[in-house]
Amino acid sequence: SDIEKGTYPHYMLKEIDEQPAVMRKIIQAYQNDAGELTIDSNIVDAINAADRLYIIAAGTSYHAGLVGKGYFEKLTGKPVEVHISSEFGYNMPLLSEKPLFIFITQSGETADSRQVLVKIKELGHPTLTITNVQGSTLSREADHTLLLHAGPEIAVASTKAYVAQIAVLAVAATVAAKQAGKTIDFDLVHELGIVANAIQAMVDSKDEMEAIAKDFLATTRNAFFIGRNVDFYVSLEGALKLKEISYIQAEGFAGGELKHGTIALIEDGTPVFALATQKAVALNIRGNVKEVVARGAKPSIISMEGMEEEGDTLVIPPVHPLLTPLVSVIPLQLISYYAALHRDCDVDKPRNLAKSVTVE
Ligand code: G6P
Repeated sequence: SDIEKGTYPHYMLKEIDEQPAVMRKIIQAYQNDAGELTIDSNIVDAINAADRLYIIAAGTSYHAGLVGKGYFEKLTGKPVEVHISSEFGYNMPLLSEKPLFIFITQSGETADSRQVLVKIKELGHPTLTITNVQGSTLSREADHTLLLHAGPEIAVASTKAYVAQIAVLAVAATVAAKQAGKTIDFDLVHELGIVANAIQAMVDSKDEMEAIAKDFLATTRNAFFIGRNVDFYVSLEGALKLKEISYIQAEGFAGGELKHGTIALIEDGTPVFALATQKAVALNIRGNVKEVVARGAKPSIISMEGMEEEGDTLVIPPVHPLLTPLVSVIPLQLISYYAALHRDCDVDKPRNLAKSVTVE
């Protein structure tokens, strides 16, 4: 297995570096001869026949699903619910008349998600699995499959599968919306190409991420991630990455929720990572940063070119506002990686965790 890792010290770092290639692979895999994006027409029909989409997932895949909800709602105009698979059964929502269930699962083997699939099949509703593993259980058992084309992901902490999930969700939403006669005012192939280059720029800035990790996370016992709108979803993923591999207690939450509790935890030197890639909420999130700084926090602001301000810690290259999660997550992955490395943690195989969880 050392051979597969090549010159990389860890699979996680290799998989982080593969992300620009994964974006290009997805563009290629879902393009027809005319250069247009396309997916299996049965899947397009299933999406467009549904009156509501139910996304079911766990862990990082759940975080990708939260981003995907925005794509389907904005582009297809269809309502979407996103559920944690282990919770779905307890209080099953009242279903719409024509639901489509979309399971997002890197491994295709997560028991909690499979249990929902089994139940939904019993009810006779159509199902789609978005997975990295062809022939996996959830792929075999669902009516339809969309593949992530991310290549095998070995590190327990998911990186390239997350960006692949978001990109494939964007492709599916765009193709379905176009087929349904909606106007899409951007060229997703072009925009994903820009994203691939932006990710490349981020993975080429490893020294910067390592310095941030050393500076902010070497000895801290906790860290917070805040964002608003889609940045909130990325902050959830940033916190999950950090806790999974560095064992630093980390929490991601909506900027507006600070005042409702978490701000009580801010002390001198508490690291707070703030995402500010969304124009409409940039002022508000920067306001949140001021609030935590006034209480002693050490802030890192991750913004986007065109809306950056002096003192921002990291500025991602400009990408389409819907696609910022694909890029803003990269520095968070790398900062977590270096935090774990410098805290002598087992990056690829964190304690107590498994790559695919086949028990409830
Ligand atoms: C495990 C992994 C996570 C993953 C989650 C869901 O907890 O450690 O990285 O996000 O399972 O896995 P899935 O294969 O269903 O995406």
